[in-house]
Amino acid sequence: MLPKFLVLWTFLLNWASCAVILNSHLLTRDIGPTAPLSLSSSSASSDDDKHPPNPPTTSIIDILSSTPEFSKFIVSLQRSGLIDTVNNLENVTLLAPLNQAFGDNADYVRITKDDLFQFIVDEPLLSSQIVGVQILRTLYNGASPFLKKLPLPILCDNRDGLFMIENANVVETDLIAGTSNSVVYGLDTIIEEKQSICEILSRPYEEIPHDKDVKVFTSLMSHNDFCVRNQFTNLTVLLPLDSALSFNDIEMDYLYTDLGEDDRLKLVSNYLISVVWW
Ligand SMILES: *[C@@H]1O[C@H](CO)[C@@H](O)[C@H](O)[C@H]1NC(C)=O
Ligand SMILES: *[C@@H]1O[C@H](CO)[C@@H](O)[C@H](O)[C@H]1NC(C)=O
Repeated sequence: MLPKFLVLWTFLLNWASCAVILNSHLLTRDIGPTAPLSLSSSSASSDDDKHPPNPPTTSIIDILSSTPEFSKFIVSLQRSGLIDTVNNLENVTLLAPLNQAFGDNADYVRITKDDLFQFIVDEPLLSSQIVGVQILRTLYNGASPFLKKLPLPILCDNRDGLFMIENANVVETDLIAGTSNSVVYGLDTIIEEKQSICEILSRPYEEIPHDKDVKVFTSLMSHNDFCVRNQFTNLTVLLPLDSALSFNDIEMDYLYTDLGEDDRLKLVSNYLISVVWW
């Protein structure tokens, strides 16, 4: 009897991770690799009439400072001493928060270079190249405390006329900065910091985003720091429903003991695929 699964796509399990729970039929696997884009001035024509192509001499800072809706972001970069960092970027997609992403009372926020790099995709992509669900790499490469230089992934979902990056709606697309072969998008929300798989699974049950019961597995994973201690990383979790794990109280109590730890690991390993798969 095949257990019913919810699939929990996770990356870099532990620390920085990006996880979505979806019923598997919802997720259409995406198209082939995206060819590296060369945004030379000739390819810079945008389909979007709202944004006539910028001249090839446009820089990322030009775009940010000439768009009033980016005024809070540009002040944030200035106050944080990051203008030069942005000026030195090349071949990237910058996911910039629009003013509406900042609280009404906040004129700017202080950001570090690491924060900034979490919002920069490591290649220039037009919105027409982001089709369906895609996971892209950011410039921030401290995604895992266990693996060196692991780039933080970022989840893009462009389907049915709704374009989201992580928790943010993409409002402005394809603002092309020709001098640095880069693209700027405007987001309506600051992208939330990612949680590790352990943080997600150890959240109070009610907060896990699903509509099915997965209490048994999440408690097996989180009870007495099991998840953190095992340094789960770079894998995909197939999250079994409670109905697929029918243990009685004695069996559950055993799995939580030191003696039962090996069996707990074997058991949960059945639901872990040692590669990031989506
Ligand atoms: C950007 O891409 C161009 C063309 O592929 C390449 O020559 C250049 O070295 C790249 N710059 C960086 C910083 O990667
Ligand atoms: C993740 O797993 C895949 C497949 O086993 C492997 O090719 C890749 O190098 C791993 N990545 C990291 C960062 O460990």
